[in-house]
Amino acid sequence: MFQGTVSTELPKRDFYDELAAQAHALLAGETNLVANAANLSALLYHTMPDLNWAGFYFLVDGELVVGPFQGKPACVRIAMGRGVCGLAAQTRRSQLVPDVHAFADHIACDAASRSELVVPLLMPDGTLLGVLDLDSPLPARFTEEDCDGVEAIASVFIATLASSDTVS
Ligand code: SME
Repeated sequence: MFQGTVSTELPKRDFYDELAAQAHALLAGETNLVANAANLSALLYHTMPDLNWAGFYFLVDGELVVGPFQGKPACVRIAMGRGVCGLAAQTRRSQLVPDVHAFADHIACDAASRSELVVPLLMPDGTLLGVLDLDSPLPARFTEEDCDGVEAIASVFIATLASSDTVS
C-alpha cells in the first residue's frame, strides 16, 4: 500500500525532495490527466501540514475550471487574471500570498483560508495547462522554499503527462 507520508521534522528542502520522489512513484506509468491530478491533490493534502485545500484549476476555453482537489467545495470558474489563481495563470508565475485578506482580488472559496500558494502548470511546449493551488488556514504558511518545492512537484506532474514512464 502506498504510504504517502513524509516527516515534517525534515528540513523543507529534504521534505520536498522526499515528497517529489513519492509523487513520482505515485504518478509514474499513468498519463491520464484526471487520475494523476486526483492522486496528486490527495498526496499533497494528506502529506503537507496545515492545508485546507489542495487542487487543480485547468484552463478551458480561456478560463480556469476547477479540477480534482481535496478540501471544501470550491468556485468552479475563475477568469484569467482574477484572484490568485487567475493571476498565476495570466503571469505564468507562481503567486505566494502570505495574507489573503491583504490581497484585494482574493477569491474566498473557504473562509478558513489565510494564506495561499498558486503554481502555474506549463507543458513542455509552453502551453498553459492550468494551476496548482494550495490554501492554508495559517497566515504565512508558505515560504519561497515551499514555492520552490511545489514547483518541483508540479514539474513531476507535468512530466508524467508527457512521458510514457513505466513504474520502476
Ligand atoms: N483563492 C483562489 C480561489 C480558489 S480557492 O482558493 C480553492 C483565488 O483567489 O484565486
